[in-house]
Amino acid sequence: MYDANYSEVSQFVFLGLSTSRQVQHFLLPFSTVFYVTIILGNLFVVFTVLFDPHLHSPMYFLLANLSFIDSCLSTLTVPKMISDLYSGHKTISFQGCVIQIFILHVLGGSEMVLLITMALDRYVAICKPLHYLTVMSPRMCILLLSAAWAIGLIHSAAQLASVVHLPFCGPNEIDNFYCDLPQFIKLACTDTYRMEFMITANSGFISTGTFFLLIISYIFILVSVWKHYSGGLSKALSTLSAHITVVVLFFGPCIFVYLWPFPTVSVDKFLAILDFMITPILNPAIYTLRNKDMKIAMRKLSSQLLSLRKMP
Ligand SMILES: *[C@@H]1O[C@H](CO)[C@@H](O)[C@H](O)[C@H]1NC(C)=O
Repeated sequence: MYDANYSEVSQFVFLGLSTSRQVQHFLLPFSTVFYVTIILGNLFVVFTVLFDPHLHSPMYFLLANLSFIDSCLSTLTVPKMISDLYSGHKTISFQGCVIQIFILHVLGGSEMVLLITMALDRYVAICKPLHYLTVMSPRMCILLLSAAWAIGLIHSAAQLASVVHLPFCGPNEIDNFYCDLPQFIKLACTDTYRMEFMITANSGFISTGTFFLLIISYIFILVSVWKHYSGGLSKALSTLSAHITVVVLFFGPCIFVYLWPFPTVSVDKFLAILDFMITPILNPAIYTLRNKDMKIAMRKLSSQLLSLRKMP
């Protein structure tokens, strides 16, 4: 067992995106606008799907769930980053850091499984349209969603269980704006080689594996559309290109953060911006604003909201 004197670090200091006050003041308005847009856009998607009976189908329920997870992911990291940019005071307690890592991996793991579910949904809808309603039944959707959350929880608990007892005796600076495992374990006062390997194997393998699984399934869907109904290819391409864009943008940073072997290059925090600020905006933008049913529903919802306001 480790010496009790070791665990002296009670808080961590984020170095953030930049240590220059000027750059921080420059980034502050941008991140605030992005965050507000993410929350409004994604909540609007969730409410539109929940309140419009025309959108009560698996695809839209999955989209709403994706929007929900995305707003949680942003909320986990961005408000703290904004307040740090504002105040210049960038500490986080040890417990806060551990909780952030835990929730991050629960949400990230669930989002990955949800993206697989969405690909499955598109596969059945496009390649087996006659069986769509029986395969993607409400029960099946709930089952897949519960599986997503369960896998996220197990993945996160398993990783955290192995690092939470590490001794920390300083330094306590994290060159990032949020806590995640690669930087966290590097601060432990022990040889973390095996831990690093475990994290690469767990998070790295899951993100890379899921990424290739998704890309292969989308290629498979496109090829079968192309073979069976050559006329439908452009329509399928336009739907699926949105999914593929989100997949690449979401997984690119994950794979880099967990698999890149040279930790001295701190581009990972800029890549993390993609996951916490860019894909969460893209989801409502490209999945929904390009979708006719969704646009009609949003127009209806907003006119209802407006007429509510006008009532005495
Ligand atoms: C997620 O999907 C389930 C079932 O498909 C649905 O009942 C639920 O309302 C969705 N959650 C959100 C936040 O949209």
